[in-house]
Amino acid sequence: MIAVILGTRPEIIKMSPLIRACEESGEDYFILHTGQHYSYAMDRVFFEELALPAPAFNLDVGSGTHAVQTGAILAGAERIIAERKPDVVLVQGDTNTVLAGALAASKSYTRGRGEQVLVGHVEAGLRSFDRKMPEEINRVLTDHISDFLFAPTAASRKNLLNEGIDDRKIHITGNTIVDAVRQNLALAKEKGDTPGSLGLERDEYILVTLHRQENVDDKARLSGIMRGLMSVRKKFGMEMVFPVHPRTEKMIRAFGIDTRGIRLVPPLGFLEFLQLESEARLALTDSGGVQEECCILSVPCVTIRDSTERPETVDVGANTVAGFSPQGILAAAGTMLSRDRRWENPFGDGRAGERILAVLNGSRG
Ligand code: UD1
Ligand code: UDP
Repeated sequence: MIAVILGTRPEIIKMSPLIRACEESGEDYFILHTGQHYSYAMDRVFFEELALPAPAFNLDVGSGTHAVQTGAILAGAERIIAERKPDVVLVQGDTNTVLAGALAASKSYTRGRGEQVLVGHVEAGLRSFDRKMPEEINRVLTDHISDFLFAPTAASRKNLLNEGIDDRKIHITGNTIVDAVRQNLALAKEKGDTPGSLGLERDEYILVTLHRQENVDDKARLSGIMRGLMSVRKKFGMEMVFPVHPRTEKMIRAFGIDTRGIRLVPPLGFLEFLQLESEARLALTDSGGVQEECCILSVPCVTIRDSTERPETVDVGANTVAGFSPQGILAAAGTMLSRDRRWENPFGDGRAGERILAVLNGSRG
């Protein structure tokens, strides 16, 4: 039996192809939701839009400090794993849900003391090499306690080999985000005209997302980023639309940050967001998933961070790492607006979900 542990917006989206594959093949599996994300627009909307079965368990851990959140997930996941005894636990990405879920599973047993629960890490081997990011700590630790490392690309496999991880545990599968985009893009376009409903024309607006702790929890840094966004808006004369993550909304309010000129909207469902993203002229973001999706959708991207764990996007010409200064953001936007958009998608053929399931089934007989 497979346990799929997830807890945040990107995990629901990126696990959806695997969950579909489990459903289609009649796999014995269940979903354990940690409740790290819980607002309708960060959680339930994705289950509804992607037609996913309701989780069998929800730990309802909610928000808190890293230790509080990670600790609550660790204890809750251990309890459910002991009760249901899956033989494999799958986690995806780099959140506190991922580390805690993998850690609980790695010390658990299925059926008897001799049989340890196996851990599969989907999207293994990504590295920003910046240990100031909580996500980097989560990724590194999860990779080192996993039995199956589903690396999206050859570069992520290499990162794992460089850290001494046994090549026999590594499987290059592509990234399940390609599956999710391919499975939902047509549906997204049928769902209505999201850009039009916001008064936006294809290729005439810039999409913004921001939520990284290091960008939004610091007043000076967040105000500087906003000044950078406004200078891009002014120089290139394009509308700017910004679906705001709840963390960012909270901090904009707490710091009293000036956002005039930027169209702030609530977080969108995946189908609405995908449509808005696919018709944008440019994206300015600190999101991991948005960097990948822009690369897949031929939309130029500027990453408002000092590093990226998705260097493939930069290598193919789809993305530039701008730092977070207003000048850096403006310069990078200019560079990316003049980029030729015909690059190759480095993240695979959209069959990562199937491939992951085939590896698991092959290894378990
Ligand atoms: C988490 C992940 C991050 C991932 C992001 C995806 C960690 C360390 N961080 O960041 O890697 O990129 O999810 O979106 O795991 N909040 C709500 N409603 C919700 C969820 C959060 O209002 O449903 C607000 C709360 O004020 C909360 C804040 O957002 O304190 C931050 O939530 P948290 O889960 O701690 O981290 P994210 O910033 O969402
Ligand atoms: N996303 C969404 N609605 C939004 C913003 C993002 O559905 O308003 C999706 C986006 O398509 C991508 C994922 O959320 O698949 C990215 O999540 P996020 O940026 O929160 O986290 P990260 O990828 O940085 O971990």
